[in-house]
Amino acid sequence: MAAPAAEGAGAHVVLVGLPGVGKSTVGRAAAERARLPFIDFDEEIERREGRSVARIFAELGEPHFRAAERALTAELRAAPPAVLAPGGGWIENADAVRLLRPPARLVYLRASTATVLRRLGAGRAERPLLSGPDPAAAIERLFERRRPAYESADVTLDTEILGIEKLIDAVVQLVTVRGAGYVTG
Ligand code: S3P
Repeated sequence: MAAPAAEGAGAHVVLVGLPGVGKSTVGRAAAERARLPFIDFDEEIERREGRSVARIFAELGEPHFRAAERALTAELRAAPPAVLAPGGGWIENADAVRLLRPPARLVYLRASTATVLRRLGAGRAERPLLSGPDPAAAIERLFERRRPAYESADVTLDTEILGIEKLIDAVVQLVTVRGAGYVTG
C-alpha cells in the first residue's frame, strides 16, 4: 500500500459531526469547487451493499455497517486527496480515525442537538439510531458519547454561526491550505 500523503494540503479532509449537520451538502459542494473527489460514506456503502443504511442496520445489524465503514476507510488511506463525509458514528471508531489521521484533517461541523433534529425533519426515518420513539433522548445520548471525539477535530466550523456559503468556503480553504482552529466568520 502506498504511504499516506504528508500532512496539510494534499491530504483528505474529513467532515465529522452529528447526523443532519450538513456533512454531505457542505462536503459535496466544497469538493466540486476544489475539483476534488467527494466520498459520502453512507452512499458508497449503500451502493456496495445494494440496500439502504436503514435496511443494512435492520437486516444485517449495526456491526456489519460499522465493519463496512472501517473497510471503506482502510481503502481510502492511500487514495488521492478527497473530501470525505463519513456518517456521524464513524468518529467512535478510533481505529478507523487513526487509519486516516495523520495526515488527514478532521473538520467538525457543529450544531446543537435541537438544531440537528430540526434540520433532519423527515430524514430522521432514514437514520436507524434516531428513528425510535424518543429521538431527542437518542441524539443527546449519541452527542454525549461522541462529543470529545468530535471536539478533537483539527478545525471546528459552527454551522449555527456560519451560513452555507461560508461553510463551503472554509472547507475549500482547508483542502488547499493547512489550518486549525475554531472558524466563526
Ligand atoms: C449514523 C449516522 C448516519 C449513518 C447511520 C449511523 C450515526 O449518517 O451513517 O445511520 O451513527 O450517527 P449521517 O451522519 O450522514 O446521518
